[in-house]
Amino acid sequence: MIKTVEWLGDGVRMIDQLRLPAEEVYPVLKTYEEVADAIRRMVVRGAPAIGVTAAMGIALGVKQQTSTDQAAFIESFNTICDVMAKTRPTAVNLFWAIDRMKKVFERLIREGNRDFDPPRLARALEAEALKIYEEDIACNKAMAQHGARLIPKNAMILTHCNTGALATAGFYGTALGVIKAAHEEGKNISVWVDETRPYLQGARLTAWECQKEGIPYTLITDNMAGHFMKLGKVQCVIVGADRIAANGDTANKIGTYSLSVLAKEHHLPFYITAPTSSFDLKLASGDEIPIEERSSREVTHIKNIAIAPEGAHAAHPAFDVTPARNIHNIITERGVLYKPFDGAIHSLFAG
Ligand code: MRU
Repeated sequence: MIKTVEWLGDGVRMIDQLRLPAEEVYPVLKTYEEVADAIRRMVVRGAPAIGVTAAMGIALGVKQQTSTDQAAFIESFNTICDVMAKTRPTAVNLFWAIDRMKKVFERLIREGNRDFDPPRLARALEAEALKIYEEDIACNKAMAQHGARLIPKNAMILTHCNTGALATAGFYGTALGVIKAAHEEGKNISVWVDETRPYLQGARLTAWECQKEGIPYTLITDNMAGHFMKLGKVQCVIVGADRIAANGDTANKIGTYSLSVLAKEHHLPFYITAPTSSFDLKLASGDEIPIEERSSREVTHIKNIAIAPEGAHAAHPAFDVTPARNIHNIITERGVLYKPFDGAIHSLFAG
């Protein structure tokens, strides 16, 4: 059982994903600044995991506030939320979690009126962070069950990045959760794990999770996907999401768009698995999704070893957007969405 992130009451414990698969270490972060830094550096990563961790970081920051002056306390809370919001721009789960924490804080401030009660605020925010954590685990289980129905027996499934327990609060995950459930149901599936350049979440994290769970997998470099599809050795592609716009366009790890085009060429179903916290209905289409640009050093170097000439100019968009037309279904905790996605997404949030 992989515990990605845990609330300790006076700190946040997480598995250090930068050190996997070589070492399994669990640092305990003692301040909200350390938590924000861990998100920024990708010690913890994956859209739902980022949201859960940010909520815990906010709860921690509020618990440590010493001010008894209401205005100063509110200002500190806003600073904590702003620091969290600046960590990573694409995964909307981060902003969704911050909004939930803000709503609880603002309601209590309103209700408290003249009875400003910092310990009560801290307790309420801690409870909300734990609720977000537990909801994420429940979402993962539900998505896994809905999604596994779409996976045929003996399927060879291609996946990208890491969407397992490590990308969420823990246990199942999103797309890899569906794969885990199909495996548990005895469907005799196997997985093509894209290494996922440049950060290698597939090679470092998904391969590690599959190995731990006893799921048969084969690691491939990203540029091998088309080859295996052409040979008929891929039956479907299943990936996660960092942000889904109101029309179904989906931002996910860089390379996902290319896979969707390859899947279309080979008439393969292309599935997205994401909780409702990954939808951003404020955005009409994927063109509006902010794409994180990370350091070019993550492209030119691997573990501090240069793989390009010194001074090489390298680009590093961390995500790309797959148009809704390339997606067969979106698997959520509330069920599987079918096309047209704009209507399906509207109904999902209306009811
Ligand atoms: O940069 P990362 O590792 O945070 O990117 C993660 C992904 O792109 C995942 O596919 C996505 O968050 C969905 S999985 C839960």
